[in-house]
Amino acid sequence: MQTRVPSLGVSKYAVWVFLTSLVVALGSAPALGGTRGSSRGDPLVGRKLYMTHCFTCHGVTGKGDGPAAASLEPKPRNLTDNLYMSGKTDQDLSNAISGGSVALHRFSAMPEWKQLLYPERIRDLIAYIRTLHRPPAGVDRPLARPGNIEAGKRIFADSCAICHGQEGRGDGPAAKMFGPRPFDFTDQAGMMAKQDQDLYFAIFAGGEAIGKSAFMPRWAGVLREQDMWDVIAYVRTFSRP
Ligand code: HEC
Ligand code: HEC
Repeated sequence: MQTRVPSLGVSKYAVWVFLTSLVVALGSAPALGGTRGSSRGDPLVGRKLYMTHCFTCHGVTGKGDGPAAASLEPKPRNLTDNLYMSGKTDQDLSNAISGGSVALHRFSAMPEWKQLLYPERIRDLIAYIRTLHRPPAGVDRPLARPGNIEAGKRIFADSCAICHGQEGRGDGPAAKMFGPRPFDFTDQAGMMAKQDQDLYFAIFAGGEAIGKSAFMPRWAGVLREQDMWDVIAYVRTFSRP
């Protein structure tokens, strides 16, 4: 299927890397990650690292089609290829990420990450990569649950504001890079047209799954179900009269 991921120019790419590194540096992920299993790795932290260090080659959705991929041979691995990726143990992936092309025994552009990333962070990356090829089974219409606005506010600031803007207007620092722009949550008519379950599905499955921009990430497996209801409760506050 044809994706709608526009290719990023070099300067835009630089802006993106800068912004995402800021998010990694300043984000409250450790606080959010505290309750997650640390031995398994935290996919939310892993996603931020991926968007800083890996998407240029492997692509925003992991298909191996990042902005740098065109000039590379062999091509960056398609991390959404479930058949291939399921055959790899976590240890295999850890060796590949730590040791890069040398560990994969062939000449390629896959860098070696062990100098830059602690083993715990490589575990976080693997936890995220697993969600790319093995998305958790989707419940198309889960029962809507009440969300905690305060908790949702923290999740929004941490994971959504970079694109959707602190005030929810779709004007976050990274928004300029995307056409169509991130959704404007202050749009009252637009928000009234969406039920909580519609919002849930968009967040759970990502933009591509609902026929919209692939830059709207899929959060299934990255945020917990309750996190998604919390963030929905919060984004509703932007369109309250
Ligand atoms: C400069 C481009 C580039 C960057 C940046 C990059 N990769 Fe890769 N990656 C590649 C290429 C090319 C391959 C394919 C290597 C091969 O097939 O031998 C690859 C392969 C892989 C594989 C597959 C290993 C296997 O068993 O086949 C994994 C997993 C992976 N990369 C993860 C990552 C992660 C995680 C990051 C970020 C921390 C990252 N890559 C950053 C280019 C890149
Ligand atoms: C990398 C940028 C980016 C991030 C991060 C991001 N979004 Fe989005 N989001 C978008 C874009 C772009 C669209 C517009 C998609 C379109 O209209 O094609 C969008 C659309 C949406 C929509 C509307 C979908 C619809 O039905 O039209 C919802 C809901 C949403 N985002 C929620 C979130 C939440 C919640 C988060 C944080 C957990 C988040 N987004 C993080 C870029 C982003």
